Amino acid sequence: MEKTLIILKPDCAQRRLIGRIVKRFEDKGLTISGMKLMQIEKSLAEKHYAPHEGKPFYPGLIEYITSGPVVVMVLAGEKAIEISRKMMGQTFGYEADPGTIRGDFGASKTYNLIHGSDSPESAETEIALYFAPGELLNYETAAHCWTFKPGEN
Ligand code: RTP
Ligand code: MG
Repeated sequence: MEKTLIILKPDCAQRRLIGRIVKRFEDKGLTISGMKLMQIEKSLAEKHYAPHEGKPFYPGLIEYITSGPVVVMVLAGEKAIEISRKMMGQTFGYEADPGTIRGDFGASKTYNLIHGSDSPESAETEIALYFAPGELLNYETAAHCWTFKPGEN
C-alpha cells in the first residue's frame, strides 16, 4: 500500500483545525499508519525542506514550520500521494480551489496549513525523517475492502 507523509502545519493547531482536516482524510478512505504531535527542530526542518534551500522564501518557511506544534502523519492507501495532493489543493491558499483543504481554509502564501509528499521518492525520504519503522502500523481497516477494489488499477 502506498504511503505518504502529511504535516498539519503550525497554523492548523493554532486555528484548531486539526480534527477537521484529519477527518477529511479518514472520510476519503486513507488509513492512518503513524501519527504524532511534535514541534519540528530547525535541523529537521532544514533536512525536510533541503530542496528549497537558497530560495527567497526558504528562511520564512523554516521559521514558520518550526514555530509551534504540528501533527505529522503517515497515511496509507492506493494512490495515497496523488489523492492527498489533490485534497490539499494548490500551494497558495488564494489560488487553491474551493473543496480542497487550502482552498477551504487558507488565504495565505506562507500559512498554507498542510504539507504532503509530492512523489514516492520524497515520501520515502520524508517518512524516514519523522518515523522509525517500528512506529508505523500496517493494518487494514474494516472498511478497506469496500474502499479499494483489488486489481482495478
Ligand atoms: P509543501 O511542500 O509544503 O507540501 O507545499 P507544496 O509542495 O505545495 O509547495 P512547494 O513548492 O514544495 O513549496 C514548499 C512550501 O514553501 C512555501 N512557499 N512559499 N513565497 C513563495 O513564493 C513560496 N513558494 C513556496 C509554501 O509554504 C510551500 O508550502
Ligand atoms: Mg512540496
